[in-house]
Amino acid sequence: MIICRTKKELREHIRDMRGTGKTTGFVPTMGYLHEGHASLLRACRSNNEIAVASIFVNPMQFGPNEDFDQYPRSEEKDIELASSCGIDILFIPTVAEMYPKRPLTEVKVAGLTEQLCGASRPGHFDGVGLVVSKLFHLVEPDFAYFGLKDAQQIAVIEQMVRDLDMPVEIVKCPIIREPDGLALSSRNVYLTADERARAIVLNKACSQALEMFKEKTTTGRELLEYVTNQISQAEEARIDYVSLLTYPSLQVIDMELDLHNCKEQLLLAVAVYFGQTRLIDNQLLTCSEEVQYV
Ligand code: PAJ
Repeated sequence: MIICRTKKELREHIRDMRGTGKTTGFVPTMGYLHEGHASLLRACRSNNEIAVASIFVNPMQFGPNEDFDQYPRSEEKDIELASSCGIDILFIPTVAEMYPKRPLTEVKVAGLTEQLCGASRPGHFDGVGLVVSKLFHLVEPDFAYFGLKDAQQIAVIEQMVRDLDMPVEIVKCPIIREPDGLALSSRNVYLTADERARAIVLNKACSQALEMFKEKTTTGRELLEYVTNQISQAEEARIDYVSLLTYPSLQVIDMELDLHNCKEQLLLAVAVYFGQTRLIDNQLLTCSEEVQYV
């Protein structure tokens, strides 16, 4: 595996490897890699001739009171994991390499960033849009792999790619979980043992909501009340949001209607604080069996 730390090296190595007719897959990450990231790296590896990944904790997507400085980092282990997943090129730039000067260009996807995490983290998705578009320009991937753990992020990136005619296909990968259902996240290390035990309520509540949705007539209001109640019962859980929106358009629905009358796929999304740690999880609710992800 080749490790590149500058944009110039990255461009040169990709150009050398690409030749003609070879597909390039790309997995952007912020490091502290776990099995969720590994699932993306493996999908990228097995479906492309050239597999590229990046590790960059992007300051532009953190708010002033967020955890940029504390964000966990483990470069050596990350290099080992990326290499064991068969990645060809790993890009690990510094902040000064990515942003030699403060960028004046904004990438704002209006309409998809005012709700859910965009409401709680103003400017977050502008930072994500900017860094992902820079990385796409550097790597020029044919396919880019993203996890449905961050369902809103996928909706935003897909829209950005469509609006700006970026020649890349976004591949959505399923959420990887611990055996007890907690979605893997780099931020799980912040949890105390007690908080870790309580955090399983996110997935429990969302999965039970999926069962309710499958089994009987349910309105959006009933579903949200159920999930909110379940999560509220966990000690010291502080709800940021519990929302039900269309996916990927992220529009509100009539909360009094039977959800089965909804033609679009729905996203049940939650964000909950345990102490200082904010965790997110979600569940897609689909009436038809047609929607499938790799
Ligand atoms: P990061 O949080 O490191 O996540 C990188 C990718 O891994 C994202 O696509 C995310 O959805 C996916 N991922 C994380 N946990 C997962 C899990 N449990 N199951 C499946 N996929 C999972 O998301 C970012 O970094 C950044 O915003 C980034 C896109 C790199 C831009 O800076």
